[in-house]
Amino acid sequence: MKEQEMREPIHTIGVLTSGGDAPGMNAAVRAVVRTALANGLNVLGIRRGYHGLLREEIIDMSRKDVADTIQRGGTILQTARSQQMRTPEGQRKAATILKKYGVQGLVVIGGDGSFAGAQKLAEYGINVIGIPATIDLDIACTDFTIGFDTAANTAMEAIDKIRDTSTSHERCSIVEVMGRDAGYLALWCGIANGAEYILLPEEHEYDEQAIINDIIENRKNGKKHYIIINAEGVGDSINMAKRIEEATGVETRATILGHLQRGGSPTVKDRVYASVLGSKAVDCLIDGKKNRVVGYQNAQFIDFDINDALKMQKEIPEYQLKISKIL
Ligand code: F6P
Repeated sequence: MKEQEMREPIHTIGVLTSGGDAPGMNAAVRAVVRTALANGLNVLGIRRGYHGLLREEIIDMSRKDVADTIQRGGTILQTARSQQMRTPEGQRKAATILKKYGVQGLVVIGGDGSFAGAQKLAEYGINVIGIPATIDLDIACTDFTIGFDTAANTAMEAIDKIRDTSTSHERCSIVEVMGRDAGYLALWCGIANGAEYILLPEEHEYDEQAIINDIIENRKNGKKHYIIINAEGVGDSINMAKRIEEATGVETRATILGHLQRGGSPTVKDRVYASVLGSKAVDCLIDGKKNRVVGYQNAQFIDFDINDALKMQKEIPEYQLKISKIL
């Protein structure tokens, strides 16, 4: 018998968003719902991620339910971080609920924590497809994660504004950007904003005295501002500002951009790539693929086995790092 004929036909899929929200999640949900409906499948929307799944917050989704959402930040399905889903009992219960609702394929839109939950569901016999969505860009199997482009643009615009006031007051400004343990947002903003210094968790240690010397040298040369982009994973921005001001005599302010980086209308890139990945996730399920993560690598939309995807390691791009120090 051909593989096509052996495949169990699917009729019902589920979709949820999980972990930190990311601009473009709605575009992905919309694509999942509309691609599934166009192929004659029923779609169940699960509210509040795994937290809602464990409480059976499950709704039927129609084409209209995702109308007027592609341009909106956040996630219409809501999201959460579920402690219960980290336990074997929670994972078993989640799989049982999905089976009760006849979910033959679950699309999980989120970051690596959400995929770890999906991987566990796969062990309990649920077919899962992960769509990478995080402003941190820290998922190894893909060059693109939903939300990063919007967050980087939001942070870049905010840093431009900070630079105006920094220049007027001839100050040093430390701007802390999100990213958890990853420095991608910091590196991209550092290059895009022409920062004097970028501090990344991937570099492990930084030489504060070198920064202090550099600020003093810059001031002697008449430079009016000094921008340091500090990654959340390095942290300590407020104390760092106090130490730098004391050592250099240059007024120094710290700004932690925080959650504003997670909101806002998604960029064209986030909308389009999220749409493609949403459709691709459903196509994977229709094609009978099991337990995959979809993504974008080397100018191609791809999919990987979820276990392989979660084993991959991501490095900070060396060349970008090198030029950031020169520019
Ligand atoms: O993973 C996305 C992210 O925004 C990280 O950059 C940040 O460390 C974390 O989520 C913040 O999480 P919360 O919204 O739960 O405070």
